[in-house]
Amino acid sequence: MGIVHCNMKIPENLSTPLLAGQWTIRKLLTSETAAVREHMLRLDLDARRSRFFCGMGDAALRAHCDAIFAGGGIILGAFIAGVLRGIGELRRENPVWQRSAEVAFSVERPFQGLGIGTELLRRLIEMAGRRAIRTVHLHCLVDNLAARSIARGAGGAMHYADGVISAEITQPRRTAESMMR
Ligand SMILES: CC(C)(COP(=O)(O)OP(=O)(O)OC[C@H]1O[C@@H](n2cnc3c(N)ncnc32)[C@H](O)[C@@H]1OP(=O)(O)O)[C@@H](O)C(=O)NCCC(=O)NCCS
Repeated sequence: MGIVHCNMKIPENLSTPLLAGQWTIRKLLTSETAAVREHMLRLDLDARRSRFFCGMGDAALRAHCDAIFAGGGIILGAFIAGVLRGIGELRRENPVWQRSAEVAFSVERPFQGLGIGTELLRRLIEMAGRRAIRTVHLHCLVDNLAARSIARGAGGAMHYADGVISAEITQPRRTAESMMR
C-alpha cells in the first residue's frame, strides 16, 4: 500500500450491460495474471484509492498484479459475460502466525451494487476457514461505506484508527459435525 505517484489514464466508459445475478465466481490461476491486470487497470481513480489507500498509477498496478499470485495468496475472480470484472484476494498476514489473513477486493464500477463484493468476501471467508485461518481482516478507508457495509454483514468487529476501519471477522470454531458438511 506504499505511496505511488499517479500517472494514470482513465479507462473509457464500459458499455457492457448490467446483468444482475448473472456472474460466476471461481479461483483464478497464475496463467490468468493478464486478465487480473486488465481488471485492475479498468478501476477508476476513486476505486484505486479505496482499494490501495493511495492514488495507484498504472505502473504500480501492473507491479501489484505481477506479484499477486506470489506467496501463496488465493485470488478469486468474478466473471460477467466471460470478462473478469471483480477480484478478491486472501493473503496470510504473517508466515509465523498462519491463522490470520487479510482480504481485499475490487469490483468495476458498472458492476457494483449487484452483490458481487458481498459474495467474494463470503467465499474468501469460507476458503480461509477450510485452511484453518481463524481470523480474517478487512481494512478500508472510513469513507468506504460499501466495504464497511459488507464487512458488517459478514459479522466483522469494527475498529477505527487514523482514518482506516479494520474489520476483524472470526471464524466459528469447527466442530466434528461442521467438518462432515
Ligand atoms: C467495495 C466494493 C468491492 C463493493 O463491491 P460491490 O459488488 O458493489 O458490493 P455489493 O454489491 O455486494 O454491495 C455491498 C453493500 O454496500 C452497499 N453500498 C454500495 N455502495 C454504497 C455506497 N456508496 N454507500 C453506502 N452503501 C453502499 C450496498 O447497498 C450493499 O449493502 P447491503 O448488503 O446492506 O445491501 C466496490 O465498491 C469496490 O470495488 N470499491 C473499490 C475498491 C474497494 O473499496 N475495496 C475494498 C477495500 S479492500
